[in-house]
Amino acid sequence: MDRWQTIIEPFRIHSVEPIRISTVEERDAALHAAGYNLFNLHADDVIIDLLTDSGTGAMSRDQWAAIQHGDESYAGSPSWFAFLDAVRELFPFKHVIPTHQGRAAEKILFSVVGGAGKVVPNNAHFDTTRANVEYTGAEAVDVSPVHDPRQLLPFKGDADVAVLEELIRERGAENIPVVFMTITNNSMGGQPVSLANLRAVRAICDRHGLPLFLDACRFAENAWFIKQREDGYADRPITDIVHEMAALADGMTMSAKKDGLANIGGWLAMNDDALAEACRNLLILTEGFPTYGGLAGRDLEAIAQGLREVVDEDYLRYRITSTAYLGEALAAAGVPVILPIGGHAVYLDARALLPHIPPLQYPGHSLAVALYSAGGIRGVEIGTVMFGRHPDGSESPAAMDLVRLAIPRRTYTQSHVDYVIEVVRWVAERSAELPGYRIVEEPPTLRHFTARFEPLA
Ligand code: F0G
Repeated sequence: MDRWQTIIEPFRIHSVEPIRISTVEERDAALHAAGYNLFNLHADDVIIDLLTDSGTGAMSRDQWAAIQHGDESYAGSPSWFAFLDAVRELFPFKHVIPTHQGRAAEKILFSVVGGAGKVVPNNAHFDTTRANVEYTGAEAVDVSPVHDPRQLLPFKGDADVAVLEELIRERGAENIPVVFMTITNNSMGGQPVSLANLRAVRAICDRHGLPLFLDACRFAENAWFIKQREDGYADRPITDIVHEMAALADGMTMSAKKDGLANIGGWLAMNDDALAEACRNLLILTEGFPTYGGLAGRDLEAIAQGLREVVDEDYLRYRITSTAYLGEALAAAGVPVILPIGGHAVYLDARALLPHIPPLQYPGHSLAVALYSAGGIRGVEIGTVMFGRHPDGSESPAAMDLVRLAIPRRTYTQSHVDYVIEVVRWVAERSAELPGYRIVEEPPTLRHFTARFEPLA
């Protein structure tokens, strides 16, 4: 195969879902009814849905077959043991606590270790992670540097270890219950974290007696980047690299909706017995018994099989290449994107593309709405709408104003992606005509999900 340049989808399509091709007029009416919030749309009104790569992937024949083995026993189901074995094959932590998705694992962990006066460092918190930390009264602090969006660095997801060390000294190790590393770094562009950086963070944690946890949603994509880019890993199997990442940590949170290749699920894992007991007690209160934790037996089976498929190198090569195909085509057409292209998504730099719209008029939001109106493509703003409102009620521009085009796993073909390229280019050519927005209604937290907007004249 090595002599051919074209990287093909390493699967055939076995079952299809129809896409309804809507008109611009229909989409503009849908936008108006949705308060210009793409989260409020009826998904049938979306042509190419790049809102998220979470829970939106296609399951394999073998996952659907595994679902038939789902055993729905309340306690001690064989499906639980299949799940436990598959998780431990990759992440050999002593305790594995199943949850219905990643944020449920976060909620349980931070309810136990968070609270007023505590500080949680993370290379970059995802929105639900930040919200779950802050909900307990603790402070969530990002310690990854803000890079020039165009600078080509192999591991732009890395934490700044000097900033981390300084934070620990300033706030006191006794006030830091856990240090987190998010792999890949979603908020900063789906960028990978190197093993060298994980080792450096581990060394700091050891010096201060702090536990290190991974937010490992996209661990397989991160491992693929390490294999491609980090010295000494080119010939190592993906599973070895995953084991090396796991061995540097004391625990993890996971959303199986990403690199579990499943539509729902997650887990919390750790080595500490007392922490595990406290978390399990909360699990029983909110998620379910410790051998199913908010999931059906059939979900546990789908995840177990998904974890075997996600570390397959043909899959990962296709996955990372197809995301890069979209990003590199847009970059070549002069559309500002975060470089290098990340694992699960292409991030359009709306602040650079729409310099006439100030951050507090939400350029990312404006671009996302325009992509939907023009071509029925749904991305998501990751910028001032998502991160601009603070717990004290104030508002300020986020570090960047991006639109993320997240690629569902094994779902869209190359011609779908060619269509996305054409639409984004068309909108980019007309970017000077796009309006800013104002928010007319917003909830107190996570406002991007439900806020309503109006275009400015
Ligand atoms: N951590 C990261 C890095 C994430 O990207 C997500 C979800 C979560 C935690 C929470 O997991 O959704 O299963 O509760 N990210 C999705 C996204 C929603 O679109 O990026 P969850």
